[in-house]
Amino acid sequence: MSEKSTQLSPEKALLEAKGKNYKLPIYDGTLGPDVIDVRSLSGAGTFTYDPGFVSTAACESKITFIDGENGILLYRGYPISELAAHSDYMEVCYLLMNGELPNQTEKDTFIATIKNHTMVHDQMATFFKGFRRDAHPMAIMVGVVGALSAFYHDSLDIKNPEHREIAAFRLVAKMPTIAAMCYNYSIGLPFMFPLNRLSYAGNFIHMMFDTPCDEPREPNPVIEKAMDRIFMLHADHEQNASTSTVRMAGSSGANPFACIAAGIAALWGPAHGGANEAVVNMLEDIGDVSNIPKYVARAKDKDDDFRLMGFGHRVYKNYDPRAKVMRETCHEVLKELGNGNDRLFETALELERIALEDEYFIAKKLYPNVDFYSGIILRAIGIPSNMFTVIFALSRCVGWISHWNEMIGDPQLRIARPRQLYTGPVQREYVPITKR
Ligand code: CMC
Repeated sequence: MSEKSTQLSPEKALLEAKGKNYKLPIYDGTLGPDVIDVRSLSGAGTFTYDPGFVSTAACESKITFIDGENGILLYRGYPISELAAHSDYMEVCYLLMNGELPNQTEKDTFIATIKNHTMVHDQMATFFKGFRRDAHPMAIMVGVVGALSAFYHDSLDIKNPEHREIAAFRLVAKMPTIAAMCYNYSIGLPFMFPLNRLSYAGNFIHMMFDTPCDEPREPNPVIEKAMDRIFMLHADHEQNASTSTVRMAGSSGANPFACIAAGIAALWGPAHGGANEAVVNMLEDIGDVSNIPKYVARAKDKDDDFRLMGFGHRVYKNYDPRAKVMRETCHEVLKELGNGNDRLFETALELERIALEDEYFIAKKLYPNVDFYSGIILRAIGIPSNMFTVIFALSRCVGWISHWNEMIGDPQLRIARPRQLYTGPVQREYVPITKR
């Protein structure tokens, strides 16, 4: 933590442990809870214990702020609802990476730079062909993004800010191309080249759904906007599991492509980025609104490990502000596509209604999160559910790389090295196998 940028509180935290007294400094952030600096405990024979990092601030950051009690999400100080209403993904990328909104010239230059990097090295196509054709697209994406470090040696000096910047541009620019390649590979279609006259979202739709046999179609503006919103709403989310993984991997000095691959791996799980795929699978399983009470009862049953996917959040204990935007976008997309009576969407709305009135969900503050609706939108657009987490990874890449860059640029960076509460055997003598 840099003391220059944080405010040292006049208060101290007093701790008495094992007969010793500690006066621990407290820092005030610009928003949100204070933090108690426990670093002086190291070497004193006592550690703090916080599995799952429930009460631990692992770093100082200026990028994103969440107030979970009040359902607030700010990117560099700007509310997500305002960005979703007035901004677009490219502007949000600039904001996250640079700290300020761009003026028109800065935005145009940024977009031109991203467009300059949308293609991937041609040899990467061969790399794809090493994967089984029925591999999960996330498995391909983890491997291919990690492999970027083998193709772009000229941006691997993490101590050089120019290298870091070009690596960030490359990642943000190439993620849609790689995501679409994962999809096309899985269905046996040829890879599509990016079409740089299109917007970031429009180009992704083009690479997903156009083929070399036909003229590229102009993306439907409602779908293009919905896709852009999905990108924007998933762009960053403070110190979540995947971002913390990127930071942890990066703290050892690993290259940015390897760190982002680590983030993609962490995102894959159903408790994190895999949730929107799990939501659609769950809604398919429910099948009909008449079955909802049975599933809600299962979610409440302590002896059943079933959970309502798309509900609950470690930080939001009020409605997830991203879910509000996703819900509206879901209506817009289904109306545009003539799927207004989509069975899955009807089931989702009814499930949301029942759960929000249920004592269990109210008491535990379990509200729909962003993934509750994003899967329905993606499915309506025609994207298969195994691509949902890939799209989350594509969107989140800018957040990951912004956090990585913030961390690497901090002169006080130290390798992340958590400690533990050891409960294994005490030291004992090795017993030869003949005597066991
Ligand atoms: N359905 C039923 N009960 C739930 C649910 C749920 N979706 N989520 C939490 N609970 C219960 C849980 O059983 C526990 O009950 P008890 O106190 O009686 O043991 C209590 O609520 C607290 O749950 P927790 O697992 O301790 O909370 P957490 O902060 O560790 O987990 C979560 C947060 C998101 C992993 C969890 O709510 C969950 O598994 N949700 C479903 C998966 C999901 O939608 N994930 C996407 C998160 S948003 C996208 C992202 O940021 O990645």
